[in-house]
Formats: sequence, structure tokens, C-alpha cells
Amino acid sequence: MSSVSVFGAQWGDEGKGKIIDLLSSDVDYVVRYQGGANAGHTVVVSGEKYVLHLIPSGILHPGRVNVIGNGVAVDPAKLLEEIDGLRERGVEVTSQNLRLSANAQVIFEHHRLMDRYAERWRGDGRIGTTGRGIGPSYADKASRTGLRVGDLLEPDHCALRLKAALAEKNAVMEKVHGESVLDYDSQLATYLALGERLAPFVGDVAAEVRRAYREGKRVLFEGAQGVMLDIDHGTYPFVTSSNTGTNGIPAGAGFPAKQIEKAYGIAKAYCTRVGEGPFPTEQEGAIGKRIRDAGNEYGATTGRPRRCGWFDAVAVRYGIELCGADGLVLTNLDVLSGFEELSVATHYKVAGETREDYPADLVDLGRVEVVYETRPGWNDDLTAMRKYDDLPLLAREYVEWLESLIGVPIVLLSVGPDREQVIPRGI
Ligand code: GDP
Ligand code: IMO
Ligand code: MG
Repeated sequence: MSSVSVFGAQWGDEGKGKIIDLLSSDVDYVVRYQGGANAGHTVVVSGEKYVLHLIPSGILHPGRVNVIGNGVAVDPAKLLEEIDGLRERGVEVTSQNLRLSANAQVIFEHHRLMDRYAERWRGDGRIGTTGRGIGPSYADKASRTGLRVGDLLEPDHCALRLKAALAEKNAVMEKVHGESVLDYDSQLATYLALGERLAPFVGDVAAEVRRAYREGKRVLFEGAQGVMLDIDHGTYPFVTSSNTGTNGIPAGAGFPAKQIEKAYGIAKAYCTRVGEGPFPTEQEGAIGKRIRDAGNEYGATTGRPRRCGWFDAVAVRYGIELCGADGLVLTNLDVLSGFEELSVATHYKVAGETREDYPADLVDLGRVEVVYETRPGWNDDLTAMRKYDDLPLLAREYVEWLESLIGVPIVLLSVGPDREQVIPRGI
């Protein structure tokens, strides 16, 4: 298999970093195609924890080319911080193993500020964004006032474009939000200096990836966030600002849709969500707390406690179908050890009527009635188990039950944060 898409099948934080890192050992290129530093992808290698935000999760494997595609919203300061942080820990990051699209949108300081101000303006309707400037940057991309990474490398051009953009943003920050304005000269100097440092990594990476694929190299596309946070297909408006699933790859990496050979969704054995918005299987009481404590469910980017609840087969089925996934990777199975009973949402009811499919037409998902089925849990600690047959019968039954509900094979199980803590099942 020469090209594979791996994406989050829930509301993000499914364990993509861990799984992408694992799969990176068998590929040549790892490509991010959307999102930005709102992502926090955790990789644990021999107890050492790395949290990646913009750099693809293949970076810990020497020899892989890690690509930040044109669809990513790049905060140059954050990217350089990440490069420096990895180098300080002895991870090699060079212009050979990290490539950055000249066409990726730049996140400026005014985007980060506008993200915060817009949230304040929304009041009770706030999204609960990560504050990384994602929405404002993608909005500027669509309205064609944004600057791209390549623009930072052309001082005269950058000066003109930034002047126009900042004049408008300053007016909004001052007159709408009652905030102070940013100084154009110092912003220009800051971003030109950042551009200069990033220059060695910059290129026409879409062409590089297509060429590599043509030459038989193996390419892995790393999704950020999750399908339920997709701007078009998620729980709008409580979503991020990009196409998070396999559907984001052609535009966000310049890679033909028909050449994406395999797709795998990743889902936790339960469900979490950070930020606001509908979450039909959320458990706000003791069960939610127990999952949060057992899974250490706190955001990798913002440290916020994650909302926790039962596995939602309706949502995962929807993500799998939307992305044409061939299989699912199930993570955090170990976290469910010790629960007397495990519930799973098998379908929803809307106005008394059973809905097997995700009700995309519903404005208010809070109105769905979730139909659960409950089965007995297991007590054994799964974290040291490496073979499917080692798992207790009730854990295997749980996996096979989910498999029957989502309609695709569960190809890999994860039973702990470390790279080694996996149980292959056909991937
Ligand atoms: P991502 O954004 O999808 O890459 O996921 P995050 O890194 O934000 O969150 C996943 C969290 O779960 C991280 O703390 C991981 O180290 C951890 N993790 C990943 N897989 C497993 C697993 O199978 N079991 C447990 N207990 N933790 C896991
Ligand atoms: P990874 O890649 C979980 C959520 C935010 C908020 C909404 C919009 O680690 O899975 P944004 O800053 O993108 O405008 O916020 O999306 N969100 C995530 N939730 N994991 C992520 O990334 C997320 N990235 C954004 O909490 O609800
Ligand atoms: Mg995360």
C-alpha cells in the first residue's frame, strides 16, 4: 500500500499522534494537510513524551520526510518553537526531513488576538476554540486577504500585503473590540525574521509528494482534529475551520483523491470532546469523571479537562462512511478496565423515530435521544498485553461488538500511550 489516510473519527484526541508515529516506521512521507497548532498529537517512546502541534508525527523516526501541506494554517513562531524544542531533545529536524509548503497560510499575531476577541463577542455561543488563531486565519484565506508562507520570503511583497491586512485588522480590533492595535513596522520585522528562519524548509511540497508517490514511495496522510469537528460535516458551528477527514487531503496536500488507496479512522474505546458543542453520549456525572481520571483526559494543547462519555457508534459509523474508511484503529481500550458495565450508543431517536444515520439535518443535536446498549466490563489490566488472544473474553467481546456496530474491521488496538502498547489485528 503506497498511500494511506489516517484520521480522527470522533471529536479529536483519539490518539492519532501515537498511531501515526507507529505507522511511520513503514512509510517514507508523513503529510499534514489541514489544521494548525490547535492540534496536539502525543507520542510516547520508551516513557519519553512528545507533543507535536504542527510537525507531523513521523518526525521521531529518522529518515522519514515530514511534510506540512498547503492546507495547514502555520504559525511561524509556534513552528520554530517546536523545531527548537525537538532539537534540544536530540531529535534531528533538518530541511531534509521537514518540508513546508510555500502555499500554507500564515497565522499572524492578529489572528491569535482576533480568535480570542471573537470568542468574547460570541458570549454564551462561544465555540471554546484553542485560541491558536485558526478560524481567523482560514477566514482570511477564504476572503483572500491572508498571506502565505512564500510571501514571508519576499520582503517587498510581504510589506504590501501585510500593510493592507493589518490596516483592516487594526480597525476591527480598535473599533469593534475596543482593543489596542498592532504596530505594522514591528509586525513586519518579526514575521520577515521568522520567514528567514523557515526559508530552508520551504518548497513546492505538493509536487514533491506527488513525485515521491509516482516513484513508489509510501505516503501517510496525518489528519488533525476529527470528523465531528469538520467544518462541513461536523457539528457546525462547534467545529474547527478545515476539512479534517480524508476529504481534506486532495485540497490540503495537492494530492489526487483517486490515489488515496486506504483510509483508517481512529477512535477511542469511549468518547471525548474539548470545547463547546453537542456531545450526545457525554456523561457529566461520576462515569464521566471516572473516564477522565482513568484516561488522564486533559487537552494536549490547552490543558483543558476533556468532556467524557460512552462510545458513540452512530458518530463513528458516520465518520467511517464519510471518509470511506477501510478499518478502524481503537485506542485507549485499557482505560475501560474496571468498569462493571460498558454502554455504547447504538442509534439515536429523533422525535420518537429511530435514526441509524447521523442526523446531519438537525440544528440542535441536543434534542436527540441516545439509545444505549449495555454489556458487562472486565477487570484485568490490559496495558502489558500484546496479542489479541491475551485479552480477557469480555474485552474481546466488546471489540467485536463495536466492530459489528460500525461495519468495518477494527485493525489495531491500543492499550497504553507508549509506542509499544499495541495489539495488531490485521493492519
Ligand atoms: P491526538 O490528538 O489524536 O494525537 O491525541 P492526543 O495526543 O491529544 O490525546 C491522546 C492521549 O491519549 C495522549 O495523552 C496519549 O498519550 C494517550 N494515549 C494514546 N493511546 C492510548 C492508549 O491506548 N491508552 C492510554 N491509556 N492512553 C493512550
Ligand atoms: P487534535 O489534532 C480536540 C476543538 C476546540 C474547539 C473547536 C474549534 O489534537 O485532535 P479551533 O481552535 O480549531 O478553532 O477550535 O475544535 N479542537 C480540538 N479538539 N483535538 C484537537 O486537535 C482540536 N483542535 C481543535 O477545542 O472546540
Ligand atoms: Mg490532541
